[in-house]
Amino acid sequence: MVFHPSRRVSEIETFKVMDLLKRAKQLDSEGHDVVHMEAGEPDFATAKPIADAAKAAIDQGLTQYTPAAGIPELREAISQWYQQRYGLDIGAERIIVTTGASSALLMIFSLLTDAGQSIMMADPGYPCNRQFLRFLEAKSSLVPVDAEQNFQLNADLIKQNWSAESAGVLLASPANPTGAVVHREELMAIAAQVKSSGGSLVVDELYHGLTYECDTPSVLEIDPDAFVINSFSKYFGMTGWRLGWLVAPEDAAPELEKLAQNLMISPHTVSQYAALVAFKPETLDILEQRKEQFQLRRDLLVSGLRELDFDLPVTPEGAFYVYAGAQKLTDNTYDFCWSLLEENHIATTPGLDFGRHRCNEFIRFSYTTGLDRIQLALDRLQKRIQG
Ligand SMILES: Cc1ncc(COP(=O)(O)O)c(C=O)c1O
Repeated sequence: MVFHPSRRVSEIETFKVMDLLKRAKQLDSEGHDVVHMEAGEPDFATAKPIADAAKAAIDQGLTQYTPAAGIPELREAISQWYQQRYGLDIGAERIIVTTGASSALLMIFSLLTDAGQSIMMADPGYPCNRQFLRFLEAKSSLVPVDAEQNFQLNADLIKQNWSAESAGVLLASPANPTGAVVHREELMAIAAQVKSSGGSLVVDELYHGLTYECDTPSVLEIDPDAFVINSFSKYFGMTGWRLGWLVAPEDAAPELEKLAQNLMISPHTVSQYAALVAFKPETLDILEQRKEQFQLRRDLLVSGLRELDFDLPVTPEGAFYVYAGAQKLTDNTYDFCWSLLEENHIATTPGLDFGRHRCNEFIRFSYTTGLDRIQLALDRLQKRIQG
């Protein structure tokens, strides 16, 4: 090696699913019919009004840097979205447009943690959070959660696990990989607990808009001092446009803006102009139709997996994931996922990517593929399991 990688970077873990993904692509190119249920992104192309707005922005030459916190029109449009969706009055000065939820998470963790401090989060959870904190020489305090806790932290767990190192708590609702939602009463109890512990509450609301038969309150309805992460990636179907936002308490926003200037200079300009039409009725109509599709897919997948000996005591209420217990089928879901890919041509994500707690018992299925493809995967699974 001609360079010495820092301990900080060498200790950052890769996604275990990457090798599996590579192999799935290879099988595709060899002409095999792989059912792809490993992706964490909608299969739908970005809605046409958004794509058209991007083309118009390019034609108008809107391709230079913007203010670090985003163009004022988009911050204002997001502010109005909070009014329209949640009845909340969130001033545009509290909103910072980011390059996806990813940089919003990195910025908020940077603001809240000094070296050695920790952020509490559920295990299983979205893996990059742990890596962001490692990068900052801070820690993730992983609290094991099971179906009995609806795979989410609660006020008691937060109280029990709070320590002198704790700087705050991160929730994701709906969550990746479980699709679990924190309901209003629990969110109120959590916010009160975090406040009385003297920490900050960060809620990743990236999958808002994708909940089925239940309401997802924004934490800002309950705790105006919370930090919120959101993104155009999932409900708005814009993963590759790398655009998200955060909402911060008024006095924290200038600190975060300072970070944004240094880390990003500005979010993507064309994406920002495109996102201006994301909240328009003609776009929302398309997104709501897609959401209906997701719900049909979830219902098919959940009932199919239940019939096939997968353990799914709670129906996932949001996002586009099913985190299925495969205890009756294997004691090593990593190997099982590999064999599902090689022998049955079904690509999924092993639990190992999402934490340590009982991860070898779980598989994440993404329903980011059509109903016919989900049915094909279920048929293949049935053949494998029941012969
Ligand atoms: C819970 C969660 N937070 C954040 C992200 C990052 O999303 P973005 O594309 O907005 O950076 C993801 C992506 O899958 C996620 O699942």
